[in-house]
Amino acid sequence: MLGIFDSGFGGLTVLQPIHQHLPNLSTIYLGDNARAPYGVRSQEEIYQYTLEGVRFLFEQGCPLVILACNTASAQALSRIQKEVLPEEFPDRRVLGVIRPAAEQLAQNGTDVGIFATPATVESEAYVEELKKLNPSVRVEQLACPGLTDLIEAGRHEGENCNQLAKHFTDELIAKAPSITSILLGCTHYPLIEDLFSKHHPEHVKLLSQGSIVAKSLADYLERHPEMLERIDQNSARRYFTTGKDLHSLASTFYGDTIDNWHTLDYLGGSV
Ligand code: DGL
Repeated sequence: MLGIFDSGFGGLTVLQPIHQHLPNLSTIYLGDNARAPYGVRSQEEIYQYTLEGVRFLFEQGCPLVILACNTASAQALSRIQKEVLPEEFPDRRVLGVIRPAAEQLAQNGTDVGIFATPATVESEAYVEELKKLNPSVRVEQLACPGLTDLIEAGRHEGENCNQLAKHFTDELIAKAPSITSILLGCTHYPLIEDLFSKHHPEHVKLLSQGSIVAKSLADYLERHPEMLERIDQNSARRYFTTGKDLHSLASTFYGDTIDNWHTLDYLGGSV
């Protein structure tokens, strides 16, 4: 099965397009809702929690795990790839969402903006990735503290979210008036894409990651048929969460009903 990990429900905005593009792939989703949001945590915490999630998905038999979380991709991915996989899981792979989104951004022009969590912004992962892809790209990042909490709590339609979306948009445009596209660099933000759209200037293109990541995964599997062969293709779908309070919000993130959640009491350390 293909493993998909996020700090909470945000990864469902990536899982849905993956199911659309690659409907036969069997998938296991894990949201660490009990410990979300990750974006205000330390690098060490994000690394440890993400590693626990990856280990869980490996234990379920996944040969490939996608970190459908920018924060985990920014703060944990390269350490897992360099320090854990070669030693313990040489035949498994973990991929993130930053590289494919940066590739798309780099094609979109030379002045780009990014909304993301404080930990993603602090890591400079996007800045470095974009520099490698095209050194002439100018990127302005803006940390959006508070947004993930509201979205994860199901308050994405509330006035607070609307105010924050306006505030962050105004701030980013004021800092970088020449930007022509903005990436929603947190997989929770597509849930409030309409709020961002409402406040941002019309000529600026707003990008969400879901379908970008799904296409990039399809390319990866085409280039790695040996990996595709190891992933069951009978459209099985399993959903795990460390959260206790599951509500219709998960289905809102996914865009369709999900009614077979399994709650985990324990995911390594401190759930
Ligand atoms: N959805 C995640 C991301 O893409 C994590 C947000 C959080 O847990 O703070 O960054």
